[in-house]
Amino acid sequence: MDIKPAIEILRQKVPFAPELAIVLGSGFGSLADCPETKSGTTINFRDLPGFTDQTVIGHSGKMCFCEFEKKKIVLQAGRFHFYEGHPMSLVTAPMRIYGCLGVKAILLTNAAGALNPSLDVGSLLIIKDHINMQGTNPLIGPNIEPGSRFPDMSNLYDKNLRQQLQVAGAQCNQNLKEGVYVAVTGPSFETPAEVNAFRLLGGDAVGMSTAPEAIVAKHEGMQVAGVSCICNMGAGILETPLSHMDVLNTSKTIATVFETIVRKFVRNLVIATGPKILR
Ligand code: HPA
Repeated sequence: MDIKPAIEILRQKVPFAPELAIVLGSGFGSLADCPETKSGTTINFRDLPGFTDQTVIGHSGKMCFCEFEKKKIVLQAGRFHFYEGHPMSLVTAPMRIYGCLGVKAILLTNAAGALNPSLDVGSLLIIKDHINMQGTNPLIGPNIEPGSRFPDMSNLYDKNLRQQLQVAGAQCNQNLKEGVYVAVTGPSFETPAEVNAFRLLGGDAVGMSTAPEAIVAKHEGMQVAGVSCICNMGAGILETPLSHMDVLNTSKTIATVFETIVRKFVRNLVIATGPKILR
């Protein structure tokens, strides 16, 4: 997918370069309707060439460029999922765009199921690392310079940002756990046997997004952080069948706590400078 036409539109419409991007997962999109976005610039996905309208309930599809907690940021509500049949180039196109706009750090959020039985439904989990079970990699194809052909993923979820999330959580009386996110394609939920297998592999949570975006954001030279909202126990852990509506309802119950933590995180945010790939 060619992102140049979208970049041109954004450069015309957005009066500043954001330093941070936040991708709001299922149920968290309401943060993009906060007062700050009203005085910022909102671009709907449908107005960007190459982008399509969102199809999943709970995802509206827009980028809100605004000043938020004293930082210039972009809040993205909705995302493209591989299970919708989109190519990886579209799934990760927002990351390419943010890279081009000079975004230095990104917070990816999502809804996930617990693989680790000690996690609580309705809690937030800081992503420490991921296991990509989507069967493909978003960097397949010609390398997009100046990103590396074989980028290092050993500190994918940046340690410094994870510590800052921990601090923001503590300031909101939330002791945030850290864990490994397993990315699957969906759209079917896992079988109980898959949940057992992913647990044995070292996973704590499972979801249908984030890993491709994290890989491409890193390839763009951004510092990456991720937070999962644990919306349900993985299939087979409890007797109850899983449903997307239950997932959305759980993330809505924690949306206020999530917003408070995100606000603290952004206000305190210090983006470390150091050797990084520049575009
Ligand atoms: N599995 C995969 N994705 C999810 C889940 C789950 O249990 N819950 C929310 N997103």
